[in-house]
This record gives sequence, structure tokens and C-alpha cells, in this order.
Amino acid sequence: TLERTFSIIKPDATRRNLTGKINAKFEDAGLRIVAQKRILMTKAQAGEFYGVHKDRPFYDELCEFMSSGPVVVQVLEGENAIAKNREVMGATNPADAAAGTVRADFAESVGENSVHGSDAPETAAVEIAYFFAGTELVG
Ligand code: CMP
Repeated sequence: TLERTFSIIKPDATRRNLTGKINAKFEDAGLRIVAQKRILMTKAQAGEFYGVHKDRPFYDELCEFMSSGPVVVQVLEGENAIAKNREVMGATNPADAAAGTVRADFAESVGENSVHGSDAPETAAVEIAYFFAGTELVG
């Protein structure tokens, strides 16, 4: 089924000018970028976005990092886009990520791991709506 998923290219990747190389991996896998913008999140905004992790030991570090530089928020569309995007990203910890994945090729650590992607249709819908109006998605 045709799905949409939410993706973030994180500050460690924008800092190293890797936006195009990461987008090429998405596009080569058949994902279509139907919305995209470069933004600077406040720490409060990052905290709200990552609210499900608020009791984790890494929450403060995560919010600091996600507001430390520009991110590219985007909506990717394709057949089974959620699972496909997770395949292209690779495991959360780059040490466990399969060869050729974004995180194997680019991530610096489990925290500075270059990309975020939604984990389920329900979270994708919530995450997309957090950053984009419906009119900004052009399929
Ligand atoms: P993401 O998919 O953006 O969702 C939550 C993020 O928390 C995750 O990717 C990781 O980058 C980050 N994270 C997970 N575990 C740790 C950890 N042990 N230390 C720092 N950050 C972490």
C-alpha cells in the first residue's frame, strides 16, 4: 500500500553537508520526497516532538542535540514507505547498521545518528501533522 512516513535529517548530517547524499539513498530506494523544509528547532519543540522519550536517560541530551543546528524535516511517500525508510536508515545504533544504510555510512553515534524515521502509521500521521500542513504535501 502507498504510505507516507515522516523523516528528519539530523544536525550531525546537515552540519557535514550530507542532505543530498541522504536524499539520494531515499530516492534510490523508491521513496518520493513529497514535502521538505530546513528548520532550526527550539529545545522546547524538540522536547515536545520526542515527548514519548521524556523519561529516558538520554532525553535531555537528545533535545539539546536536535536543537543544536539545522534539521531537514520531510515526508517520504512510497509502497510500504515506513518499513522501506527504516531499511534505508539502518539500525538506530550505527555499530549495528547494515552496510550501505544511511546510519552505517554516515552516523556518528547512537545519539548523533543522522536520521529519524517514523516507526508506525499512527506515529507517522502525528509526526507529519506536527511539522506540515496538508497543503504542504505535494504527491
Ligand atoms: P530517533 O529515531 O530520532 O528516536 C529517538 C532517538 O533517541 C533515537 O533516534 C536516537 O538517536 C536517540 N537515542 C536512542 N538511544 C540513545 C542513547 N543511548 N543515547 C543518546 N541518544 C539515544
